[in-house]
Amino acid sequence: MKTVEQIKQPILEEMELFEEKFSQSMSSKVALLNRITHYIVKRKGKQMRPMFVFLSAKLVSGGKILERTYRGASVIELIHTASLVHDDVVDDSNQRRGFFSINALWKNKIAVLVGDYLLSKGMLVCIDYNDFDLLKIISVAVREVVEGELLQIEKARNLDITEEVYYEIIRQKTATLIAACCSLGACSVAPATEAVEDMRKFGELIGMAFQIKDDLFDYGDTAIGKPTGIDIKEQKMTLPLIYTLNTCSKQEKRWLINSVKNYNKDKKRVKEVIAFVKNTGGLIYAEKVMHNYKDKALAILKRYPDSEYKEALELMVTFVIDRKK
Ligand code: IPE
Ligand code: IPE
Ligand code: MG
Ligand code: MG
Repeated sequence: MKTVEQIKQPILEEMELFEEKFSQSMSSKVALLNRITHYIVKRKGKQMRPMFVFLSAKLVSGGKILERTYRGASVIELIHTASLVHDDVVDDSNQRRGFFSINALWKNKIAVLVGDYLLSKGMLVCIDYNDFDLLKIISVAVREVVEGELLQIEKARNLDITEEVYYEIIRQKTATLIAACCSLGACSVAPATEAVEDMRKFGELIGMAFQIKDDLFDYGDTAIGKPTGIDIKEQKMTLPLIYTLNTCSKQEKRWLINSVKNYNKDKKRVKEVIAFVKNTGGLIYAEKVMHNYKDKALAILKRYPDSEYKEALELMVTFVIDRKK
């Protein structure tokens, strides 16, 4: 059995029902919006976030989930989708999930509004049912995602970013939302227990590994459903490049900085930078750090009694690291 199917086994019914509810949660009376949300629903992603919500809830409760666990999963996927729609505007990217991005088809103006719409629909799902504890977890995550995206833009101007700043950026822009998935899952069934914080930490650690993996994809040339090689073009400094900058000679560093600053749209030069990062061990270093986060995440799971949900979460951790897209 393939890993993803194996992971989904203990939450098959939940994921099926989730997809229905998720699609309903986007509906609108405005025809243009409906056309666009229909386009989004048809091109679904890996749905890892709702999987984290359901598995975390079941791990903590021993298999029981509630109606509000579904609402939490829908909200998180709505907010994740909103962040991708906006992110492709910010990153000027024309491809997402193997198809044209919303901004590529409908232009930036509409993409910005669609992202806002999805965000508001997400908040309302919680408000309509008075799930204010879940809404709080989500609102904190949204604030962090936005701060992380802005911190990244701020630091893209200063090409000398440190590893610490990189970790802060990815913690905010990516890890907090995955942390929210896991703590929300736990909170939906066991509010005000230690498990909520345990699972938040677990999600944060795995979220860090997740974004390092995503940044590694950018250095490859396999088809992942979105453009590769665009981080350097956007002057985005990620872990492989940061490592190389910190370990190469002064002269090489000057060449690298000059390339990213003044030749970042020159395809041949960008390829040379990528090759240099590979040859100096930048990718191997990033992989090492990624595995470190993975090990720390697994250590948290160890504290929980064995169950099919725990096993699925362990597989999920492996999937984050070994995935092909
Ligand atoms: C993409 O997330 C955005 C990042 C945080 C890197 P996913 O890779 O989970 O996106 P989809 O939903 O599967 O397309
Ligand atoms: C992912 O940002 C985080 C958010 C969407 C907020 P990236 O720009 O690194 O992700 P991809 O590669 O476009 O999915
Ligand atoms: Mg981005
Ligand atoms: Mg992007």
